[in-house]
Amino acid sequence: MNWKRKDLLGLEELKKEEIEFVLDTADSFREISTRAIRKVPALRGRTIVLFFLEASTRTRVSFELAAKRLSADLVNISSSTSSMLKGETLKDTIRNITAMEVDLVIVRHGMAGAPHWLAREIEPGVVNAGDGCHEHPTQALLDMLTIREKKKKLEGLRVAIVGDISHSRVARSNIWGLTKVGASVVVAGPPTFIPPCIEKMGVTVKYRVEEALEGADVVMALRIQRERQGKNLIPSLREYRKIFGISRERLRLSKPDALVMHPGPINRGIELDPDVADGPQSVILDQVTSGVAVRMAVMYLLCGVGKEAISRQLSAVSKKQKAESL
Ligand code: CP
Repeated sequence: MNWKRKDLLGLEELKKEEIEFVLDTADSFREISTRAIRKVPALRGRTIVLFFLEASTRTRVSFELAAKRLSADLVNISSSTSSMLKGETLKDTIRNITAMEVDLVIVRHGMAGAPHWLAREIEPGVVNAGDGCHEHPTQALLDMLTIREKKKKLEGLRVAIVGDISHSRVARSNIWGLTKVGASVVVAGPPTFIPPCIEKMGVTVKYRVEEALEGADVVMALRIQRERQGKNLIPSLREYRKIFGISRERLRLSKPDALVMHPGPINRGIELDPDVADGPQSVILDQVTSGVAVRMAVMYLLCGVGKEAISRQLSAVSKKQKAESL
């Protein structure tokens, strides 16, 4: 397929084929990070801006590494080191940045919809690296890439997402993505953590975590986002852990080879027990590794280079796979 989008704002607007194309492209980039010299010239001469107005470790670092591995020029801007501290508006800030001729802006913002607004305002492409409680598309793509790598498929899997669904952009993007590729998604949490009418997104809701975990192929625990809740939505963290925390005992309800996932950062001993987070079923660090490949793929596709080259490359891979299966 030919990639036609200038922006990646969410998985809600992506078609199944587009999601699969990003995952296939990411698969073809994985190998670069295992080389002795982890660098290719694919984005040489392109300029990418990381515009993070909220804290981040994994997303910011993996976008930065991905850009560097593709040889792009990279600029980092944050609210604490820019003239936004002196009162400059977001609009003026971004207009000044784009006046310096950049190709792609990666933005994280506390307000839902900020990347969408930015994409309308500026000519360069925009990638949503997390907007409020709305979407975190590259996180869901890296989660899907990890699941697909470990389970060799996505369609037909049962994925249990447990925790603060209401405040989780990771949950929302994963629900859009996983349901489009044919996985069955069940969400679980206390009623105050489950948004009204979430069933309309094609998921099943359970208020007992045990019911959600039963027969699951993937168990995805979410962080309790105290910074977004504004008021106490649960009696206490101790009580949350007792009723919804993923312990070894609870994990036994899922399939024996179920994957344990978490987008990070983990509140150890709250949503996940440490022996589950670090246990044999955990793929949490594999998620982080997949993140670099996904972000390389996204930047490569959105920078609009090598569309034909990547199509040729993918068709060569698929021809090779077909030949090997004969
Ligand atoms: N998963 C994730 O978005 O982590 P960071 O907030 O550290 O980027």
